[in-house]
Amino acid sequence: MTRHAPERMPESAALDLERVRADFPVLHQRVHGRPLVYLDNGATTQKPLAVIEALSGYYRHDNANVHRAVHTLAQRATDAYEAARQRVARFIGAQAPNEVVFVRGTTEAINLVAWSFLRPRLRAGDEIILTGLEHHSNIVPWQLVAEETGARLRVVPVDEQGALILDDFESLFNARTRMLAMAHVSNALGTILPVQEMTDVARRHGVPVLIDGAQAVAHQTVDVQAIGCDFYAFSGHKMYGPTGIGALWGRMSHLQAMRPYQGGGEMIRRVSFEGSEYAPPPARFEAGTPHIAGAVGLGAAVSYLEAIGPDAAGAHERDLLQYATRRAQEIPGLRVIGTAEPKAAILSFVLEGIHAHDVGTILDTEGVAVRVGHLCAMPVMQRFGVPAVARASFAVYNTRDEVDRLIAGLWKVNEVFGR
Ligand code: ALA
Repeated sequence: MTRHAPERMPESAALDLERVRADFPVLHQRVHGRPLVYLDNGATTQKPLAVIEALSGYYRHDNANVHRAVHTLAQRATDAYEAARQRVARFIGAQAPNEVVFVRGTTEAINLVAWSFLRPRLRAGDEIILTGLEHHSNIVPWQLVAEETGARLRVVPVDEQGALILDDFESLFNARTRMLAMAHVSNALGTILPVQEMTDVARRHGVPVLIDGAQAVAHQTVDVQAIGCDFYAFSGHKMYGPTGIGALWGRMSHLQAMRPYQGGGEMIRRVSFEGSEYAPPPARFEAGTPHIAGAVGLGAAVSYLEAIGPDAAGAHERDLLQYATRRAQEIPGLRVIGTAEPKAAILSFVLEGIHAHDVGTILDTEGVAVRVGHLCAMPVMQRFGVPAVARASFAVYNTRDEVDRLIAGLWKVNEVFGR
């Protein structure tokens, strides 16, 4: 067993990593006596000062309810909330801010579309196309509406590398197909799906398309109009924003045709006991007091990410992925799960004979945070015949030194298990 000397290469030229890292206070701490190496960005990213200060500034100076009063603070809160909507809309290339609905996150966005858009259109025998790479949040909502109606799911298969097998993709479409829902980037394997090409096929068959962009928006430029999809969902907390806030983008014609998902204040035009008239989108889908501070924080995260550039962030992360993948080959017994190209900066792996939870626990004692388990993607685990994996997922603030710490931690795991 030889430990290779870590390969030294210059860090990404496009990014001032030291400055980026200085923006994230949480990174500068010790865990179990070791400097923290945070590689669980697929689960949630850390937050830059710009976001933390936007949240704190909102609560310190502007807090009030939105769209409900004429006083100055209410006006400021409303302006900040709607300004955040505009930023999000511009960030993903929406035609208008009103196409953006604020939701709790990707999961709520997909449930909204499943229940408000698809459920009323679904009949027994209808079909919904998903892919074998989906997170549970892009499977179970469709299963729920399918169970209620007698519709069924059809699944695009996955190959040994973790790419979709698209040879027969078009033949999945028929007169009963009502929806195509797919991830932009697989949370479990990092596979980047050819969403534009797949959307083209669906549109040729008149089938609406939802894309789960949770693992994409922080790592590459997303333009919903260029993709040509009908809905695009993502979470704030995976793109340096707060938890509990995300966005659903939808074509206005669809949003206008959809029934409300929840009833309450602010989503109506008029209410009486005989019946209610609903507000136009997006208010129709934002019943109750929204997560105003969250939206403000998400707006700040968008500005932060735009200043760096999602493509520059993605390039840096892919560089780390390549380095990490190469160095991971040094570890006896390590098998990378998911080697498809193109691939985002997610490195999932198993260590032969060692449970992923033990890998994660030992890495934690070394100060290295990774996710372990089925990654909310049990069908992917089944496809690869593993109960669980360990996953290192990279963000803009990660470094090659941190990859070296991961690799050293994996040697330690092997040592503990006598390998
Ligand atoms: N979907 C998140 C992940 O992949 C929670 O970790």
